[in-house]
Amino acid sequence: MQLPFIEPYKIKMVEQVYTSTRDQREKWIRESRYNMFNLRSDQVTIDLLTDSGTGAMSDRQWSAMMMGDESYAGASSFYNLKNAVEEITGFRFFLPTHQGRAAENVLFSALLKEGDLVPGNSHFDTTKGHIEFRKAVPVDCTVDIASDFEDPDPFKGNVDLGKLERILEGNPREKIPCIIVTITNNTAGGQPVSMANIRGIRSLADKYGIPFFLDSARFAENAWFIKSREKGYEGKSIREIVLELFSYADGMTMSSKKDAIVNMGGFVAFRDEELFRKASAYNIVYEGFITYGGMSGRDMNALAQGLYEGTSFEYLSSRIGQVEYLGKKMRDSGIPVLQPFGGHAIFIDAKRFLPQIPDEEFPAQVLCVEIYIEGGIRSAEIGTLMADRDPVTRENRSSGRELVRLAIPRRVYTDNHMDYVATAVRNVSEHASSVRRGFRIVREAPILRHFTVELERL
Ligand code: F0G
Repeated sequence: MQLPFIEPYKIKMVEQVYTSTRDQREKWIRESRYNMFNLRSDQVTIDLLTDSGTGAMSDRQWSAMMMGDESYAGASSFYNLKNAVEEITGFRFFLPTHQGRAAENVLFSALLKEGDLVPGNSHFDTTKGHIEFRKAVPVDCTVDIASDFEDPDPFKGNVDLGKLERILEGNPREKIPCIIVTITNNTAGGQPVSMANIRGIRSLADKYGIPFFLDSARFAENAWFIKSREKGYEGKSIREIVLELFSYADGMTMSSKKDAIVNMGGFVAFRDEELFRKASAYNIVYEGFITYGGMSGRDMNALAQGLYEGTSFEYLSSRIGQVEYLGKKMRDSGIPVLQPFGGHAIFIDAKRFLPQIPDEEFPAQVLCVEIYIEGGIRSAEIGTLMADRDPVTRENRSSGRELVRLAIPRRVYTDNHMDYVATAVRNVSEHASSVRRGFRIVREAPILRHFTVELERL
């Protein structure tokens, strides 16, 4: 008999999981104005709000932290990280930043101006925020099939090359400072982008002379999907695939809080030295000197180690395997989940779960709240709230999707926890038809409103 697949690690330290009563949770979520971000973590039993910065570091990462060099300039920790970045991604020039959105800030400060267009695939909300904040426009060129939640297409994160070429063709070159492609495509359901697609984007970038960047928060998970789904890559190692992926790009932004399994950190990397020099000035203004940029030496050491661990095939198989385990449990009990399952999260289609709630009443947020009340599970809305208002018309901007994201932290929860989550969601589905109304907004910020929005029940 073939031996079963196991997690390539064991547990050395544990952290308390908080339990509560239904009455307590109803009170807490009301006091939180029905916003998941306002809950205190000790009011949450299983925290699937995000897979960002919530992973468990290894003993090797903690040991590396003890060796952190906190020198202001030229710390050995910076060179450890520089070597790791170069070895894993192939980029020679890089700037550490405190997290992914800081990397976006540095890159876009160097590249963008008012009125520019930035084509890509379902830009993440902070990416969109940084682009719109500069009065530029993110243009979503994701393949149409991404909005079909059941189509088994293996690469639903892809860019539609036809849509992309129409943008590049129809606008002056100087209006398009870069293309930015997110791997995996978080907003479209943690779906991967194929190597063939990335090659196609590279040739369009060359044809029109436009720099091409990868938003790489989950690059290793993307590489795992290429290895398991794309012809010709079965026999390649994750590291080989990653190197090939980045070889097609002019640079990358990185939120290390995801695939590099650290609690804080990021970087931006470049192939071109000129652009690196230009961005360095913004790094110094916004982040810190170019050899630490918002990170302490110990954090750079942990990140360097995390880049190696996060690109191990065994680790990625167990990580993505756990997400799939939860997805299958939910699918088998009739929950409408997005398929194929994403790399970092399971997405529930709230429109099908709560068809009686119209988009204006935020069905995905209603479902997040119901799941919290049922089992103390915190999830995230990816729907009308997150889509924000149109910056010009100020109308609610419907993305057409109303998803609840259950993002799984790395190396943190056991499959038993996943069973608990699946059971809680199933319980909610059993009384879903009794939920009659949704929410209305009481207070909201002009940009990235979902973080601080306050709601009341209709
Ligand atoms: N790009 C992608 C694809 C992301 O998913 C995120 C963050 C960022 C950039 C920004 O990175 O948080 O380090 O500043 N995503 C988190 C999430 C917050 O929950 O999906 P950051």
